[in-house]
Parts: sequence; C-alpha cells; structure tokens
Amino acid sequence: MTMLKLETDANEFHTYGNRSSDTCHWKCGDDCAKPAPNATQNSYFKDIIQDAVDRRSFLKGSLASVLVMGGLSATATAAVNDGINFKPIKLNTDDKVTLADGYSHNVVIRWGDPIARGAKRFDINNWDAASQNASFGYNVDYISWLPLPGFGAKTSSRALLWANHEYTNPELMFPNYVRGKPTKEQVDIELAAHGGSIVEVSRNRSGEVEYLPVSRFNRRLTATTPMDLTGPAAGHPLLQTKDDPTGRKVLGMLNNCAGGTTPWGTVLTAEENFNQYFAFNDEVSDARVKALHARYGVTAKASGRAWENFYPRFDLRQTPNEPFRYGYIVEVDPYDPSSTPKKRTALGRFKHEGAETSLAADGRVVMYMGDDERFDYMYKFVTKGKFSASDRAANMNLLDEGTLYVAKLAADGSGEWLPLVAGTGPLTAAAGFPTQAEVCINTRQAADLLGATKMDRPEDFERNPVTGAVYCILTNNSNRTAAQVDAANPRPSNRDGHIVELLEDANDAGATKFKWSLFMVCGNPSDASTFFAGYPKDKVSPVATPDNCSFDAKGNLWIATDGMDASNLKAHDGVFAVPTQGPDRGYVRQFMSAPKGAEVCGPIFTPDNKNFFAGIQHPGEGGTVEKPVSLWPDANGQVPRPSVIAIRKDDGGVIGS
Ligand code: FEO
Ligand code: CA
Ligand code: CA
Repeated sequence: MTMLKLETDANEFHTYGNRSSDTCHWKCGDDCAKPAPNATQNSYFKDIIQDAVDRRSFLKGSLASVLVMGGLSATATAAVNDGINFKPIKLNTDDKVTLADGYSHNVVIRWGDPIARGAKRFDINNWDAASQNASFGYNVDYISWLPLPGFGAKTSSRALLWANHEYTNPELMFPNYVRGKPTKEQVDIELAAHGGSIVEVSRNRSGEVEYLPVSRFNRRLTATTPMDLTGPAAGHPLLQTKDDPTGRKVLGMLNNCAGGTTPWGTVLTAEENFNQYFAFNDEVSDARVKALHARYGVTAKASGRAWENFYPRFDLRQTPNEPFRYGYIVEVDPYDPSSTPKKRTALGRFKHEGAETSLAADGRVVMYMGDDERFDYMYKFVTKGKFSASDRAANMNLLDEGTLYVAKLAADGSGEWLPLVAGTGPLTAAAGFPTQAEVCINTRQAADLLGATKMDRPEDFERNPVTGAVYCILTNNSNRTAAQVDAANPRPSNRDGHIVELLEDANDAGATKFKWSLFMVCGNPSDASTFFAGYPKDKVSPVATPDNCSFDAKGNLWIATDGMDASNLKAHDGVFAVPTQGPDRGYVRQFMSAPKGAEVCGPIFTPDNKNFFAGIQHPGEGGTVEKPVSLWPDANGQVPRPSVIAIRKDDGGVIGS
C-alpha cells in the first residue's frame, strides 16, 4: 500500500488540518452552523435576570447561590476517602495516549479488525462492505462490559464488550474521497461501519484486554440490521413507509452516541444526530410532516453524506416518514446473538445522548436522558413495572411502559419533572397529541408545550450509584446570548460547558421534584466564570467541553471530553476524575490525554475497577487519507483507526487508587 507521510508541519494546535469543521460536518451535519431548532419562547428565567446585569456580577450572584446550597450531595461528609491518588497530567497536544504515571494501556480493537469469519485483513486500499460487515465498525462511542458467563459474574475476566459506532469519517476511510459524490461501495461501507459491535474479550494476567476474532457472541449491528419498533408509537401511521406498512420494522440504527447498561444485562444505545442522514425536507409536500422534521433539524436540502443518491429511504421526497423511525433508545441483548434489537419508543424521540439506569425506591427502573442540542432538554423515564432481580425474562419488555418526564429548573434551586402524558395539561388532541404515540414521536414539541428548561446541550446524565445525586453534563453552547442566560445555564457564549447536579426528593429516582445546583462551570481556572464545586481553583486541572461520564466504585465522577481543541483551553481531549463528596469534592485531576483530532468516549470501568475502557473516537480528524494529521494507533504505512483502549494500573491495583 502507499506509505503515508504524517503532516508534521502543523504542530500548533490551531493550524493542523480541519478538525473542528470535519467534526461538525460528519458528527452532526453542521448543526452548529444552523439556527437551533428550538424556536419556542420557553423560559430563560428572564423574570429573575435583569438585562442590565453584566456577566461577571451575574455569575458572582449565581455562583454565590450555589455555594449557599453547597453540600447538595446526599452523603457529603468530611470522612469520605475518595481514593484518587494519581498525580495529574497536564493538558497536552501529543499525538498519543498519555496517562498518569503508573498506568498503561493496550489497544483492544480497531476499526476494521475482523470479528467474524469471512472478513478480509484490513487494508484501506482493498476494503469492501462485506468485510466491513464482519469487522469492527468506525467511531467508537459508548462502551459496556458485560461479564461472562452471565451478567452477575462481577469478578470475571471474560466478558462481552459492547461498542457503539456513532458515525463515519469518509475522508479518513477512503482514498481520494470526494465530498458530496460518494460511490455506492463507499456508502455501503459507511452503512456497515455504523451501529454497534459485540465482541468477546478476556483479560490476561498482566491486565491487558484482548478480543477473540471468533466467538459465538461476536456480532455486528449496522445501519441496515432489521430492528423492531416497540412501545406506544409502534405501528403509528407516522412510522409507516412504503417498505414497512406495519410501522413496526426498521432497518438499522443511526448515530449511536452514548448509552447505558440495564440491571438485567442489556445494552441501551442512543440514536443521536439522526437528522443529518436524511435529505430534502424542504421538498416534503405535507406541511405538518415538514414542520415536525424541522424541529429536529432534518436536512432541508441534499445531505452531506449523500446516501440518498443510492437509497430512497434517505430521500424525503420519496420516503417522508423515514426520520420518524430514528432518534430512539435501542435495547440490545448481547447474550443472545439471535435477538432482534428493539427501538423503545416509550422513551421518546430526540437526539438521545445516553440512558444509564437507576432504580427508584420502589423498584421501578429510571433512565436519565439528555437531548444533545443547543437549547434542548433533560428527560427521565420511569417504568411502570418493577425490576426483578430473580427473573431476567420478566424485565425484557419493562421499557415499553412507563412515564416520560422533562425537567423544569427554577432559579431558586428547585426543579420538577413534568410528565409528558397525552391528554394531560397542554398535551391535547388539538395540540397534536391525541395519543401517547404522538408524544413518543414528537417528544420535543410536547416538551416545548410544557415549558421545559432550555439547556446548553445535555450529554451524559447519570446517577451516582454511591450517593444518589444525579449529574447532567452540558457540553457547551456558544450561541447562548447574555439575554438568554439563566440560573442553570449562567454563562453566555458558553464554550467550555458545565455540569448540573440534581438531588431527587428523598433521594428517590422515582421522585417528581428535585433540588439542583451547579457542580462545575468548566474552563481555565484562571477564568473568573469557572467554578469547581467550591474547591480551590489554583489546585484543579483545567477541563472543558465535558461529554461522557462514569462513576468508579467510590462514587467519583470520571469525565471524558469532546472538543477541548475548540474550547478556550486549546488542547487535546482527555479524561478527568473528580470526587463528588467529602473534602476533595470538586478537586478535578486530569488522568489521560488523547491523540490528535480524537475525542474520548466510553468511558467505563470493569466492576472490579481494575480496567478502565475508553473509546478513541475520530483520531486524526482534520486530515485525510492522503494528508493524515495522525496515524494513531499504528505507524507510518497505516491510517488513523478509531479504537477501544483498556487502561490498567501497572501494579494491578484499582484505577485511581
Ligand atoms: Fe455524540 Fe452528544 O455526543
Ligand atoms: Ca457524546
Ligand atoms: Ca456514560
């Protein structure tokens, strides 16, 4: 193959490649360059914000109120040992994985590594859709560790590894790729590189994790895998198409970003920026359908990926209902390779980021979910039925019935979960919600009517399994103006993001009321607008654009970032650990830094906390096959390959300790 030369003349961060614009183009279809699709006049707390208040004095006031509410965390106590003892690394721009001293990693699996018989050995110059279908997919996002032989085997060193494949970077996958003019073979490879992978893995004595190229569990799910639509919207006329008059069968899933793992050992994978895959909403003749799509930012003209050139289901002139069949939480049973994935419509349709579960005090299952769009909302779903620890089969359709809520946050630090139930409040038939199916399909519009709080891009939203406090990560929103700031989104031009902490009433995930405060306002600690739960700012690591998160066994929050290169910090993305309770609450420390062009996803711990997995997504973004800006994880002669890495402590101990 052609030997590739690394573009080494662009060390200065701003100048290499075209990373930021390629991210925008392929990840979310340039949504940031378009008006935010939420055009409602829902509250920006204008009643409490004087237009004349300048940014600094507002922030001082709002952060002071946070400090008054300090100690919101349910079990805050000075006696807590958070167990974080590594020496933090510094922000950097090295084209490699950099870890705190005493830690190592191995690459578990790369894009194009074979996971089934019949796959060719990966070769960028000789690749095809059949091989891609039998190989690991592209950009890794959510990762889950599912122990073998069964989900309860918490100390096992054998497991199934789940990985989402959120999107593709065709300019890094195909030599001489021409934007807007892909070949059909290229599109077929892209379809096969989306979705998710299940691979059997095992941990060896030195703590490295390796995958098995052949296992009866290994499986690819792609943008063409048959799936069921279940729950209240299944079969609804808006979900019906010429190819599927039942409205219950759909081909594949799109843009699977973060996710979750249920207490019964299934994976929840979240369809996020599905809007970008469809084309020509401007030419949809049904004005209602066109308006419904517009609230989700469905592409008005030709799509950036041009899949519609080959597949009519992506062309709204031919298949106007197809986008209604994407944007869901998909449940997959990785332990049953013959199972059909299920799109759980009861959990609503929006740009789902993730769906980690918790249990309500009475045993109902609760999922916290962000809608990752500027000025969109925070949701949770509470099942009608209760989790059964002794009967896995009884849990398998729990997610088809329950109540979907959207969050409204008041300036005084209180909040409520507003139920999205057809026939109640403003969700009338006249308003477009005759049944719950319409709520599940047009969830954003239902939440608009309830006056939900417009947030700065809700990403991961998870409950701390140790304390019960809930954390919603708000990655950024540079479009928020000074007139649009509110107590929960207090910073205009919020380029660096923040994290909101919620405490449910009686610390019960099933509650309908909560208290909230700002946990962190990210950025350079020398910036007066930053806040780290009150911890001394001269001691914390700078962090920006928080995205995904996970908790260790002690309840410390581990944060992976996306887009620090374009933040005020101008450095590579990384992983940061921060205690949520005790004297070190807010003491952020950087644990890892990623290769050039990459964001860090996953992240997830093994139950024994002796491995930490991260997805290295889109390494080398900003370059092309011909002009690479990174060749991670391999060397000259290769191309950058999105991968899963397994991190271990060199002494075999618990990560972070
Ligand atoms: Fe795919 Fe919201 O990140
Ligand atoms: Ca994300
Ligand atoms: Ca997560």
